[in-house]
Amino acid sequence: MKILVIGGGGREHALVWKLRQSPQVEKVWCAPGNSGISEDAECVAVNAGDVAALVALGERLRPDLTVVGPELPLVNGVVDEFTRRGLRILGASKAAAELEGSKVFAKEFMQRHGIPTATTYGVHDSAGAAYSALCAVDWPCVIKADGLAAGKGVLVAPTPDDATAFIERLMERREFGAAGEKVLLEEALEGEELSYIVLTDGEHIVPMAPTQDHKRVFDGDQGPNTGGMGAYSADGMLPQEVEQSILQSIVEPTVRGLLNDGRPYRGFLYFGLMMTSEGPKVLEFNCRMGDPEAQAIVLRMDFDLAQAAVAVTDQKLSQFRAAWKPGASACVVMASEGYPGEFVAGKKIEGLAEAVQDGATVVFHAGTKRDGADYYTSGGRVLTVGATGKDLPDALTHCYDAASRIRFEGCHYRRDIGARALKKAHGGAR
Ligand SMILES: Nc1ncnc2c1ncn2[C@@H]1O[C@H](COP(=O)(O)OP(=O)(O)OP(=O)(O)O)[C@@H](O)[C@H]1O
Ligand SMILES: [Mg+2]
Repeated sequence: MKILVIGGGGREHALVWKLRQSPQVEKVWCAPGNSGISEDAECVAVNAGDVAALVALGERLRPDLTVVGPELPLVNGVVDEFTRRGLRILGASKAAAELEGSKVFAKEFMQRHGIPTATTYGVHDSAGAAYSALCAVDWPCVIKADGLAAGKGVLVAPTPDDATAFIERLMERREFGAAGEKVLLEEALEGEELSYIVLTDGEHIVPMAPTQDHKRVFDGDQGPNTGGMGAYSADGMLPQEVEQSILQSIVEPTVRGLLNDGRPYRGFLYFGLMMTSEGPKVLEFNCRMGDPEAQAIVLRMDFDLAQAAVAVTDQKLSQFRAAWKPGASACVVMASEGYPGEFVAGKKIEGLAEAVQDGATVVFHAGTKRDGADYYTSGGRVLTVGATGKDLPDALTHCYDAASRIRFEGCHYRRDIGARALKKAHGGAR
């Protein structure tokens, strides 16, 4: 099999890494990929959001399978265009990807199908209407830009002043362009967050190992939200009865609802959940795996990802069995100085070779540039260091041991990935 992976971050490096392990895979391309990925795949300089250029690439390479990492090409309809040309592709169609592409659509979908989610205060298409609506909400109040805003379109606003300032940025200063034409105001839920990701062919569902992301930039969940600073996955993190209730009250009605609405979903479907005292509720859908959840998940996959992808595209997922490595995985994102704000790039990275000497550890690249034998930072998110272990403490030990060997000026990363789970299990911090 020859496979094309679309995207160029840590998640796509993880996908490439896993796909290459399949004995059926003889060639992997990645568009656009990155310097680190180029050690594992042939990178092609095509922008992942540019559907026309991706289609031209697909027609030129004629891959046996294309796997889409990020949301933008999905929301822009890359799957529809590839499928129309007889090119097999793993990912949601444009209509199905609207679940992530429009938060208003997603909310109305959940209401229509009785899927538990935060109560909506209202949807507004002018700043004036949104400001007025703030008089009738409870605090904190959640404000969401309707469209894609690269993880920056949501604020849990503690006060009316914060809410007003955020609505002004979205709707008057239009910081996220058309994504802020409509805003959704909703109730703030309380609880622990969980990322639950499944593979589906439109009817059958294969759950991925559950993961937990760490979105805030600093230890103890302090500082601004980021694209995700680390994740872990561990046996037993989700009691069986809770997983059953997620599947029955959320996942199955979503997949069935999409099918009944004429938008069958094929690919990875991400449920961002809040585990509230009333049970799990949906915060958001994503039409792809998360980053860094994908890295934590592929490390635990004990099955052939290329085979799983084909089972989805050929709608034979009912015949596919996923197996998972027992124990745990953990990964931590190493970021540039300033991230998630403006960051400093061009710093030399040392210690990459020493970091992976231990066979349990892998380094996925997100924002690096190679110059000769050396790597330099080129993005806010630079590397994801991931490891497996017999349990979570073991995976974390391998992961942090590797991270501590990697150095670049201004590097920062969270030291408390999985700490909450460890505290719960052992009654003490790491
Ligand atoms: N109703 C809510 N109550 C409490 N917190 C919320 C609520 N909705 C969103 N959040 C918080 O805001 C974060 C981002 O929200 P959401 O996942 O909807 O946005 P996003 O920008 O699509 O995120 P991502 O980049 O992960 O796709 C959530 O992970 C959660 O921490
Ligand atoms: Mg999202």
